[in-house]
Amino acid sequence: MERDIEQILLTPEQIQNRIRELGEILTAEYADKDPVIVGVLKGVVVFYADMVRQIKAPCQMDFMWLSSYSGTDSTGSMIVRQDVTADIRGRHVLILEDIYDTGNSLTYTVEHLKKKEPASLKICTLLDKPERRKPGVTLQADYVGFTIPNAFVVGYGLDYNEKYRNLPFIGILKPEIYEK
Ligand code: IMP
Ligand code: MG
Repeated sequence: MERDIEQILLTPEQIQNRIRELGEILTAEYADKDPVIVGVLKGVVVFYADMVRQIKAPCQMDFMWLSSYSGTDSTGSMIVRQDVTADIRGRHVLILEDIYDTGNSLTYTVEHLKKKEPASLKICTLLDKPERRKPGVTLQADYVGFTIPNAFVVGYGLDYNEKYRNLPFIGILKPEIYEK
């Protein structure tokens, strides 16, 4: 597994340090808001578990599962495989995402959740790959862990064809792995 990695981009320590910083900001922001924290499955699970434990305020956990992605290329078409279970109308909602790439899935997620009329809706993404954004996507993430270059990364929840999610770091996959 680790031999398929070309370069470690973010070590476990760098990730945890940044999550602690974000935790202080999010704790202040949501102290009295009892937010619903919506994780977008599956890539977010590892980040989600670490991030919520640094938000030192009452909150509710919920998840959405979208599908659209296979291999390294986003198809653009989305389906909601599993919707949030909480009634978020009038609630403060914070979306947690693993990576903001072309923008297809976050745009879709935001549109979907907005229809449920939350009191507020903000986005926290661990990784942002702005070079990959599709033209016309204007959405901004409110909180970003790391802005990264245009490379395909795996680990810490992120996969390539469902592999590598359990690596403790975030690394760039060797091109020969996905060119095979
Ligand atoms: P977007 O819709 O193109 O912004 O990307 C959404 C999803 O694609 C993310 O939530 C990831 O699951 C996946 N994705 C995008 N870039 C990468 C990457 O570099 N590695 C692994 N998954 C990625
Ligand atoms: Mg994802």
